Amino acid sequence: MDRIRIVGGQRLNGTIPISGAKNATLPLMIASLLTEDTLILENVPRLADVIQLQRILGNHGVDVMIAGKRPGDDPNSGRTLHISAKHIVDTTAPYDLVSKMRASFWVVAPLLARMGEAKVSMPGGCAIGTRPVDLLIMALEKLGAEIEIEGGYVIARARHGLRGGEIVFPKVTVGGTHTALMAAALAKGTTVIENAAREPEIGDVADCLNKMGAKITGAGTSRIEVEGVARLHGARHSVLPDRIETGTYAMAVAMTGGDVLLQNARPELLQSALDVLAQSGVTITPTNEGIRVARNGAGLNPVDVTTAPFPGFPTDLQAQLMALMTLAKGTSRITETIFENRFMHVQELARLGAHIQLNGETATIEGVERLKGAPVMATDLRASVSLVIAGLAAEGETMVNRVYHLDRGFERVEDKLARCGAAIERISA
Ligand code: EPZ
Repeated sequence: MDRIRIVGGQRLNGTIPISGAKNATLPLMIASLLTEDTLILENVPRLADVIQLQRILGNHGVDVMIAGKRPGDDPNSGRTLHISAKHIVDTTAPYDLVSKMRASFWVVAPLLARMGEAKVSMPGGCAIGTRPVDLLIMALEKLGAEIEIEGGYVIARARHGLRGGEIVFPKVTVGGTHTALMAAALAKGTTVIENAAREPEIGDVADCLNKMGAKITGAGTSRIEVEGVARLHGARHSVLPDRIETGTYAMAVAMTGGDVLLQNARPELLQSALDVLAQSGVTITPTNEGIRVARNGAGLNPVDVTTAPFPGFPTDLQAQLMALMTLAKGTSRITETIFENRFMHVQELARLGAHIQLNGETATIEGVERLKGAPVMATDLRASVSLVIAGLAAEGETMVNRVYHLDRGFERVEDKLARCGAAIERISA
């Protein structure tokens, strides 16, 4: 198993290209199931999760062709996928595939909408919490699906097609909103989704669906209206930049000091996180090319942050912010409201010398003078990258084990950081 070795203490200076967003790419790939035509996705990041989803879609009969680079193409730009779900050969998504990646449960919506049936394994819990799918099932039922749960599988049927309905989410859910959108796109009549997730990835998927012929308005607000159409066609769509990758590198620069341009990053995708960084004393400058992040000399102020659905502070940046606050001058508080168990990084950060107290959903972080390198590991993606950030500032060597978590969601993390002066390398097993 690969490991990442970091020798801390180098400032970061230079440019980091931001990749296409993982959490938009996955639902966009799944949306290809809605049409017989080819969906072309550009700016797709090279990630283990994308390859895993390719495998899962392959099981349903979907062909994914990865286009090669053409002369003159930007070497930093993502890949182009040509995805064709012309013939769906199987409407079952088995446990051994769904359990490897929770988002693959979302195939239930397009399979049901297009084929009238789907049998998809329940994903089960994961390292960051129980993560139920009850609201996704509720949304499908509101559109007329008959649902049975048998042997750990959700069996969804709509023999005569789905019909529009009113879906009111009691809690904001990204996966629930994606599911509702994809199902409603091919339902008969109009669907209204209330208390919809407003995450930018929802807007990106809605844009792509509209290019495919869907009639969706209001994506990006908490009330989305979908007028169902009989069929969708092919389209070409470029994935929006990854706001979590952007925030992660911004925090890395804040941690080490230095001056880095996050190329292609868009400030409006993570304003709340940029505001928190500014509060802590980091200089954030939006430019035509992206976002410049700098910290020169001054120390870090502590902050008090609570995670919330978009436009609030994202849970997917909570671990990285905590790593940063371990070196603040004073006491910070971070409250996690989205996932009940997303604190695996706390014990590992403590191994580097951080002072963190957990009390229910709130972590109190007492800033220390310095961190000291140590071997660490984590059981989820964002926790792992928080350990990389901490390692960049810790004295001596930090070895981050179980790097496959990082590879699920960060493209060439060691390469991007090394180009800005970090002493970081991958040690292949
Ligand atoms: C998406 O997960 C993201 N995944 C997560 O990214 C992200 O942390 C999360 O949204 C919140 O922003 C992808 O986009 C692929 P939710 P999702 O449904 O859709 C509860 C990462 O590191 N809930 O918005 O699964 C749920 O338990 C990750 O990239 C129900 O109760 O999250 C949670 O408390 C991990 N019933 C809350 O809602 C349901 O049926 C929000 O979850 C569904 C969710």
